[in-house]
Amino acid sequence: MIYIVMGVSGSGKTTVGLMLAERLQLPFYDADDYHSPASIAIMRQGVPLTDEDRLPWLNELAAALPAWEEAGGAVVACSALKESYRKLLMTVPHITWIYLDGTRDTILERLQARNAHFMPPVLLDSQLEALEKPAYGIHVDVSMSPEQIVNQVETKIKHMIPLSEFGVIGLGVMGKSLALNLAGHGVSVSMFNRHVAGKEEGIAEQVIRENPSFTNIKGFDQLDEFVQSLEKPRKVLLMIYAGVIDTQIDALLPLLEPGDVVIDGGNSYFKDTARRTQLLTSQGIHFVGTGISGGEEGARKGPSIMPGGPKAGYQLISKYLELIAARDRTGKPCTTYVGPEGAGHFVKMVHNGIEYAEMQALAEAYHLLRHMLQLTPAEIADLFSSWQTSGLGSYLLEITIDILRKKEDGELLLDKVLDQAEQKGTGGWSAGVALEYGVPYDSLSAAVMARALSAMKTERVQAAQLYGQQIKSIDVNQEEFVKQLKNAYQATRYINHEIGFRLMQQVSAQQSWDINFSEIARIWTNGCIIRSQLMEELAELYKTQQCILTAPDVAGRMRSWQQDFAYLVSQGMQHRVALPVMSAALNYFLGYTTADSPANLIQAQRDYFGAHTYRRKDTPSGEHFHSNWKV
Ligand code: 6PG
Repeated sequence: MIYIVMGVSGSGKTTVGLMLAERLQLPFYDADDYHSPASIAIMRQGVPLTDEDRLPWLNELAAALPAWEEAGGAVVACSALKESYRKLLMTVPHITWIYLDGTRDTILERLQARNAHFMPPVLLDSQLEALEKPAYGIHVDVSMSPEQIVNQVETKIKHMIPLSEFGVIGLGVMGKSLALNLAGHGVSVSMFNRHVAGKEEGIAEQVIRENPSFTNIKGFDQLDEFVQSLEKPRKVLLMIYAGVIDTQIDALLPLLEPGDVVIDGGNSYFKDTARRTQLLTSQGIHFVGTGISGGEEGARKGPSIMPGGPKAGYQLISKYLELIAARDRTGKPCTTYVGPEGAGHFVKMVHNGIEYAEMQALAEAYHLLRHMLQLTPAEIADLFSSWQTSGLGSYLLEITIDILRKKEDGELLLDKVLDQAEQKGTGGWSAGVALEYGVPYDSLSAAVMARALSAMKTERVQAAQLYGQQIKSIDVNQEEFVKQLKNAYQATRYINHEIGFRLMQQVSAQQSWDINFSEIARIWTNGCIIRSQLMEELAELYKTQQCILTAPDVAGRMRSWQQDFAYLVSQGMQHRVALPVMSAALNYFLGYTTADSPANLIQAQRDYFGAHTYRRKDTPSGEHFHSNWKV
């Protein structure tokens, strides 16, 4: 904290400042020591300084303040008579202004009593004329003794409730963890959670009680008090369910001011984010739609953060995002400005599409190993552990290994979990956007649909009885099968990522968002759910390539895996193992690497029944033809 003791010449700034510095155990700086000899000479002659004379002096002090604050704070005596001077000095976020207020007579008496100072009493009137009393800060009457003044200032400082740098609304798992992450990095945080009688009562106070070591968090369940507790421009992070964002914004807007920043850190649909950005921009408020990935642990210890929206708003919050984000392997924060409008939430949505496909691919590998190869969960965990350390490392694989080993009352907990996968929407949204933009989204949409099919549990049980067939075990060379599966799994992962990035590339190009894909892969190398060794490779690859599958190294690997990939998928399906993601990935790969596809037949059929026309291979100009197909 910087304490600036201000007021006209003779109000006692140096005396009070020195005493206060001693009490607060902070260094003291006197702005008088920073006047140029030329300015001092002007003042000695009884001539007041002009704004122009004061500018270099104020600039020098303003430049010194950050270092003084960095070093632990300071008490500074400086007249800072005008609001514009004080604005110049606001180069640090925490300034407490202490204004020494007194009548002309009191101050004149003091000025006349001091003879060593370069300011002659005659300058007092010009100072009083220039003075614009601050409407904020601590005001003290200088008719008291210096001792009494300092006592009063000290009491006021103690009772002063400092404003928080950052506000978090919504103290569910993610909101609470992010608030504590910020506070753990030294940011003062105000936390708000709504009051719902009998359901959500005193939530913010509870977070404070549960975290007694944090002295820089405050809790509120009244929105206006929460907003008033924030420094300006206010920075408010919404960590609430996507369905209630509009209601929360409606409640917040009357309490905010132009220049404030609202950050939506939840999984909102990017088109809603674009709409909200427009609405808030029209009121002078920055709306930064921000994807945050990493679950509870990530949020608390370092998530991957994907902010998008107005750049000016982003710049006001970037230092906080960088503070709390995970670090990549070079130590850089796993956050970057993604692009305008809803670009941040769009990228997070695609992250989740890839997440769905990666989870489903692992589930398929597990299913094959457990039921076709008849390995025990412990054996599968051991096998996956060997993958984890041989180039296939990923967070999702790591948690899968734990899940395969987790026991409850001596039995595998996984076997007690109902096989109905739920979803909150992001995967489906990506599939919808892929359709809208005409991007082949095979394995990622297959993962979404696999969850939908899993939800039909009752029907599946009946159908299983109707068809009376179980997964058939396979009698093969186990080592060979595991090798084939590993290759198929690796190939599937390249394709899953290729599809996700392709969707982002296409939408970014059409929206002119100019997303940097190497940066996206880099901020996904740590903190987020799909962090992996593969992502490290992609961060490098996208520096020079547009497409994963045509990158020479990847193509070499895919060529060596393609046989095993096709064999494994066909074997699995023959043995009644549904492999929606692996088979969709294989289909994508086969389609993508087919120069002459049967789409000519589709075009002929369209033209046959609907005169939809077709283009010809032998007519490169690309005109459209229609034929009478009847024979
Ligand atoms: C993340 C996750 C997270 C998401 C969960 C659950 O990146 O931290 O993607 O945002 O909420 O994955 O999503 P589903 O309920 O749709 O599976």
